Amino acid sequence: MESSNGVFNNEQLLSTIATNNGHGEDVEYFDGWKAYDNDPYHPSNNPNGVIQMGLAENQLSFDLIKEWMVKNPQASICTHEGVNKFTDIAIFQDYHGLPKFRSAVAKFMGKARGDRVSFDPERIVMSGGATGANETLMFCLADPGEAFLVPSPYYPAFNRDLGWRTGVKLIPITCESWNKITEEALKSAYEDAQNKKIRVKGLIITNPSNPLGTVQDFDTLKMLVNFVNDKRIHLVCDEIFAATVFNSPRLISVAEVIKDMPHVNYDLFHIIYSLSKDLGMPGFRVGVVYSYNDRVVTTARKMSSFGLVSSQTQYMLASLLSDDVFVTSYLDKSRERLSQRHKHLTRELAKVGIQCLKSNAGLFVWMDLRHLLKKPTKEEELKLWKVIINDVKINVSPGSSFHCNEAGWFRVCFANMDDETVDVSLQRIRTFVRRENKESNNNNDNTQKPNLKKRKEMMKLSRLSFNSRRFEETPNLLSPHSPIPQSPLVKART
Ligand SMILES: Cc1ncc(COP(=O)(O)O)c(C=O)c1O
Repeated sequence: MESSNGVFNNEQLLSTIATNNGHGEDVEYFDGWKAYDNDPYHPSNNPNGVIQMGLAENQLSFDLIKEWMVKNPQASICTHEGVNKFTDIAIFQDYHGLPKFRSAVAKFMGKARGDRVSFDPERIVMSGGATGANETLMFCLADPGEAFLVPSPYYPAFNRDLGWRTGVKLIPITCESWNKITEEALKSAYEDAQNKKIRVKGLIITNPSNPLGTVQDFDTLKMLVNFVNDKRIHLVCDEIFAATVFNSPRLISVAEVIKDMPHVNYDLFHIIYSLSKDLGMPGFRVGVVYSYNDRVVTTARKMSSFGLVSSQTQYMLASLLSDDVFVTSYLDKSRERLSQRHKHLTRELAKVGIQCLKSNAGLFVWMDLRHLLKKPTKEEELKLWKVIINDVKINVSPGSSFHCNEAGWFRVCFANMDDETVDVSLQRIRTFVRRENKESNNNNDNTQKPNLKKRKEMMKLSRLSFNSRRFEETPNLLSPHSPIPQSPLVKART
């Protein structure tokens, strides 16, 4: 519509993509980012500020990387020792990438998976982080209106990464137990889509899971491989957290599974990887599409012109990742540090009656606060979440942001801060729980929150019933990154 001054309103001036809100920034969840941005915790400058536990960043092993860089100044073209390579690297713009970089990434991918499987550098396509890699792959595999199945709860930004610009739909698979994708649930989601005349082009999983921090077992992966093979649809495995598995069971990559299944059609299998989590470098924007499908490799490579990794980054990482001794030691130490942090956090939470889903990977825990909800609804979950942000002053992410339909779960990131900050956050949680207990004990009304003893009983019961719950999905958009400089999402890497 033309306004009185002759200017068309934005809806008409701009494209559908620009105006369709597919980026998903305007949801309640981002109040958490705003709260953190407005009042960020600092031990001396702002000790009562908000602690950021909504960022899945891995900052526990930066010292190792920095130490390597100091010892290897020639790896950077910006040092006295490396500047003679400056011109070659500054003008390099081939979308195949530096051969040394691709070989080093392929090798690192193998190492991050315990060297049980190897990766062919020729199948590595670069992209701007896993974000760009996921979108590029969708552009190769599906047309607007076609769909991908995704088990819930799932990485919130998938809606943006997989669907916003491509027009691909996401259909959640609701499983009996979050940790186990069953054939029954898969079939049911597939058939539902077919009944609605939606063409399903594939299935995407995160393994290890974001937000659960768990890994898929061999039988489940085999079932998924057989399922997609039977239906002639694609399987995309986002293995961005591959090297964060710090306890058994180990990660089984889909690459390992299909290696022993020569009868399946390899054209259907694709892995997404990135150095954002395993190496803790989301700022370097190094993502990878690894496809077993030649046509996808060629097409994705052409598309990668839109999101190449800078040659300076490629050059430096080629050296770092080729250093076998360093990589082996880094991966061991990083896992050990994640394990220690995870153990400390979950043990201290348990002391105040807060349980987390048993997990062995990732940079977060899936915390169970169902017992603190007055009613098991999304509204109550968001109310509690606001209390946690505003009163406890911790930014955690509510389960509803992950499309989890059971209210009361929260993702708590633990690797983006130092030990002291973890302890401050634990102290705040202890105080909060004590206050809650006192309040509920003082309250004689039976309809109010139960006291600690009752809550513990409820928790036991709810844990027992965990495997038999059904979750229904409510689509809810959420996104961690934003092109808008002032956006609270700029700092958010989920
Ligand atoms: C499962 C998953 N995929 C992709 C991404 C995006 O990663 P990147 O920073 O490499 O774009 C993330 C980031 O949190 C993630 O958790």
